[in-house]
Amino acid sequence: MIALGCDHGGYELMQEVKKHLNERGDEYKDFGTDSPASTDYPIYAKAVAKSIQTGECDRGILICGTGIGISIAANKHDGIRAALCHDVFSAEATRQHNDANILAMGGRVIGGGHALRVVDAFLDTPFSNDERHKRRIAGITQIEADRGQK
Ligand code: RB5
Repeated sequence: MIALGCDHGGYELMQEVKKHLNERGDEYKDFGTDSPASTDYPIYAKAVAKSIQTGECDRGILICGTGIGISIAANKHDGIRAALCHDVFSAEATRQHNDANILAMGGRVIGGGHALRVVDAFLDTPFSNDERHKRRIAGITQIEADRGQK
């Protein structure tokens, strides 16, 4: 199950992403926003991050104007590895190397045609399971453990 969240800056692109996921036959849960009216991106970053923390969803896609604010907010949550990607190479690499569980994009940065290729790369690329990448991800998890549960 893919968790979706966006603010007003990502609303338009998210409509294209949802249409694309429907065409792919992917299941998703939409955490909003549900209109182009101005709102605050941390609300949606938190909802999507929590749904992954609880296991309700296993991947997420977050979109704000730049993708920056919403990825920063998502990455405040333990176990969340949100990757801001505007190209296919980065989307593949972050799955292979970082086992990223959220793709963040900027609706004011990337066009729909390209963004959907980035979505495909993110959803279709497996983690490499390579020992050196597992060790580095464990290092991130250790940073979370050192600062206490969030
Ligand atoms: C909203 O205007 C904009 O600041 C937001 O979508 C995002 O780009 C923040 O990082």
